[in-house]
Amino acid sequence: MSRIERLLERMTLAEKLGQLTMTASSYAVTGPVIAGDSTDSIRNGTIGNLLNMVGAEHVHEMQRIAVEQSRLGIPLLIGLDILHGHRMLFPIPLAEAATFDPGTWWLSAREAAREGAADGLAMTFAPMLDVSRDPRWGRTAEGPGEDPWLAQAIAVAKVRGFQGTEHASEQSRADLDVRQSGTGLASPESLAACAKHFCAYGPVTAGREYASVDVSERALREVHLPAFAAAVRAGVAAIMPAFTDLAGVPMTAHIRLLRDYLRGELGFDGVLISDYNAIGELIKHGVAADLADAATLALKAGIDIDMMADAYRRGLPVALERGRVSIEEIDIAVRRVLRLKEQLGLFDAPYGRGARRETSETLAQRRKLARSIAQRSIVLLQNDGGVLPLSASIRRISLLGPLADAASEMRGCWAAACEAEGHVSVLGALRNALPRTQIRHAAGVSIDGEDQSGIESAVELCEGAEAILLCLGEAATMSGEAASRAHLDLPGRQRALAEAVLNRAGGLRIPVAVILFSGRPLTIPWLAGKANALLAAWFLGNEAGNAIADVVTGRVSPSGRTPITWPRALGQVPIFFGQRSGGRPFNPEDHYTSKYIDELNEPLYPFGHGLTYGRFSLSNLRVSASVLGEDGVIDVQVDVKNEGARRAQETVFLFTHDKLASVTRPLLELKGFTKAALEPGASQTVTLRLSGAQLRFPGLDLEPVFEAGELEILVGPCADRARLLGTTIMLRG
Ligand code: NOJ
Repeated sequence: MSRIERLLERMTLAEKLGQLTMTASSYAVTGPVIAGDSTDSIRNGTIGNLLNMVGAEHVHEMQRIAVEQSRLGIPLLIGLDILHGHRMLFPIPLAEAATFDPGTWWLSAREAAREGAADGLAMTFAPMLDVSRDPRWGRTAEGPGEDPWLAQAIAVAKVRGFQGTEHASEQSRADLDVRQSGTGLASPESLAACAKHFCAYGPVTAGREYASVDVSERALREVHLPAFAAAVRAGVAAIMPAFTDLAGVPMTAHIRLLRDYLRGELGFDGVLISDYNAIGELIKHGVAADLADAATLALKAGIDIDMMADAYRRGLPVALERGRVSIEEIDIAVRRVLRLKEQLGLFDAPYGRGARRETSETLAQRRKLARSIAQRSIVLLQNDGGVLPLSASIRRISLLGPLADAASEMRGCWAAACEAEGHVSVLGALRNALPRTQIRHAAGVSIDGEDQSGIESAVELCEGAEAILLCLGEAATMSGEAASRAHLDLPGRQRALAEAVLNRAGGLRIPVAVILFSGRPLTIPWLAGKANALLAAWFLGNEAGNAIADVVTGRVSPSGRTPITWPRALGQVPIFFGQRSGGRPFNPEDHYTSKYIDELNEPLYPFGHGLTYGRFSLSNLRVSASVLGEDGVIDVQVDVKNEGARRAQETVFLFTHDKLASVTRPLLELKGFTKAALEPGASQTVTLRLSGAQLRFPGLDLEPVFEAGELEILVGPCADRARLLGTTIMLRG
């Protein structure tokens, strides 16, 4: 008999329910605190899992109680939200998506896992895989952006990174000079990943956090499920359902999607963890009368661990009495939890994670990595007349705006265990980078206050400057959980500051580069029209300031590409490149076609947009075969040339468009991307691989089909149709 079966035989109902319960230490909370537990609950086996605990000593102290003082000695599973780094923060996930580099996604997850595990943790509630096409939704910042294919690539890299399995992309690791390898889930350097929030949390009604979702079965299959399916294929240990309801069925109780799809169709046999108090919230949703009811619904849907609702411990005994659930159903969930603990090596080495302090060399290397990722997450949205990089001999800069000297804001939405100190502001970093340059600074206004009295003195600093850097945007807490916005422009009085500075600088003919901080695209066409350069700096973590200074001074050429479309106006939302044609696509000569009467259809910046300090041209698109079958593969090649004066890296995207199919297909579907780093004047042929299997889509009956016919292949620097090279191949069934 296995260890798990032996344990199950000996466990009381209370001990079983303890294994199905996760409760918070008071370190960080994201919802109501359920009071009443203490270390005694660990000792008597009625709590089997904890969240939000930090520090190896604390973790070991709790673990010791569980392992050495509880009757059965079952170790605790302890998890924390490690979304973009643990103590060392990397760029927020949306920003990191902009690197379009699977090796980087893997590596930052790997490093975050090592750091979290060194703190004694065994699980992270990440990766966040919700596709978002609505930047009002604050959690856009936590996720992969707008595209399902991109989300899948990120899912695979992150799951493997956290869980310590190898990832194919060796190249970027070599580039980064970080010698990391996979070690597996049982390693003291790995964490169990928990893909979240399953599923379709992104399209919450009107972008409002926690609101209802109602999307079609096709949208689920095409957009919202693929990343989770990819995570399951990559071996993800756990999945967390979303807080939301989907067409009236709360995800926490969604039998069809949790039990039938995840467990049945995908064969997911890992642990399902409810979100924070989500089982209790089934009562507020209006599908459960009481906790026993709520617990029954969640257990029947296949949820194994109840995070913070205490619904299983309080509700399941009642449900058992009422005959609503059986002990066998409870045992199935307990088995899954124990198996995960076993896979994590917790039974055999309960103090393995956190046993060794990390060396200063490891920390220095991690900081180097954080800087490199931050550099590559920055997206140069605009650079008129090559204003950036600043000249190496620049003598006077004015650095203005409320985010110029805002070190702790750089952390972003999931600051995890990171201290508020120790971050580098733009001001601090620029002073280091340009010791001979005079840098004058004024905030002008606060991020979201109404006081405009500082604008005048800030504007005065324009006088005598050779360049002005204007640091504007959101505070870190304006995106992330519970941070939806109904307005996507600059908060507070920042527009007034920006306009005053731009006017004065314009009069003085001084160039202005705007560094924009945000957890989402902002609607800033007025700013884009006036600023000479615009950098999307998102929230880049500990090394934000240094990375920005690296790009602004030209030490590094920017290479990030936006993983999400930037709207011109809030009314365009949801806006994304994978739209369908419709029967009346826009035609300027025909009034009765799809458009706004007061705004363009086009976004401010399309998906994939991002400039460099080079200037690239693409030519000579060709394919290795003009016919592709479902099991076949073709190579798509294009020549990339750097016609600019500086070394830079170009990203090349591969899209397809199936013009005639049984179901209308999106105008562009992302199928791949690659990069070329080139010296001035150099060119290179890049190859993108396209397989027939990638071209399956949910047919009329929603089952995957591969349909014969013509397929357009489109290759280029972003999802702007006008900038893509195209050719056509035949698909043969
Ligand atoms: C609520 C959030 O929705 C989820 O993403 C997070 O993992 C949990 N709180 C735990 O902090």
